[in-house]
Amino acid sequence: MARAASAAGASVVVAARRVERLRDLAGELPSATAVRCDVAVDEDRVRLIETALDRYGRLDGLVNNAGVSEPGPASREAVETFRRQLEINLVAPFALAALAARAMRELPGSARSIVNVSSIMGLRSTAPMPEAGYVASKAGLIGLTRELASQWGRHRIRVNALAPGFFPSEMTDGLVSADGGAPHWITGGTPLGRLGRPEDLDGALVFLLSAAASFVTGHTLVVDGGFTTR
Ligand SMILES: NC(=O)c1ccc[n+]([C@@H]2O[C@H](COP(=O)([O-])OP(=O)(O)OC[C@H]3O[C@@H](n4cnc5c(N)ncnc54)[C@H](OP(=O)(O)O)[C@@H]3O)[C@@H](O)[C@H]2O)c1
Repeated sequence: MARAASAAGASVVVAARRVERLRDLAGELPSATAVRCDVAVDEDRVRLIETALDRYGRLDGLVNNAGVSEPGPASREAVETFRRQLEINLVAPFALAALAARAMRELPGSARSIVNVSSIMGLRSTAPMPEAGYVASKAGLIGLTRELASQWGRHRIRVNALAPGFFPSEMTDGLVSADGGAPHWITGGTPLGRLGRPEDLDGALVFLLSAAASFVTGHTLVVDGGFTTR
């Protein structure tokens, strides 16, 4: 996502806890800054937005992409596990969106687009793979997206969600693999017959961030090769 936004001309601030990986990524891009940030920590979130403003003097977009997934049957899911997923996948995006929106409102001429990375699991169950906390957080993020879009339209801030299908990543390691390996219920259930590739999200992300989507807000854009058609 950072590479896609950068290729579209953005200066990018990348944030996560493992800062060395971020520095390597930022080093590849023409204009990028790496910030160590645990999105669950108030002070880290404030510092992230302040760093972006100090470094670039504006804030055109926010992509809430950090997420966690802890699968398991609901009957055995500890409340603490459920709560942790809500904290990272739902509370942190809300808090970051509020900080970003405040900054965007004070900066005339900013593009003012927030993109929340939800999941198709915010639109359906994860069956056959049980995951109550994840589904609740991602469905909540879609509701939050609609509500923030409704409240902040008058400030010309657009808020949309992306709902990816199945993509190889650290999160899905063990379920799907980078060479396209996946259980039949995934590939057989996907009309396009394959997993997502990282670049499949580029166009959707850049669209939502850019003026091409100037009248699009409160929308959830599904990028899943058709999985949710079935
Ligand atoms: N892969 C899929 O098939 C799929 C499908 C639908 C939706 N999604 C969503 O897409 C997003 C990215 O997932 P992914 O598949 O790329 O998973 P991933 O490889 O596990 O990446 C998750 C990212 O979130 C960061 N992160 C996790 N906890 C954090 C925290 N407390 N503070 C800051 N950063 C944190 C991680 O960096 P650090 O560990 O360094 O902090 C990592 O960069 C998630 O929101 C996920 O739910 C993924």
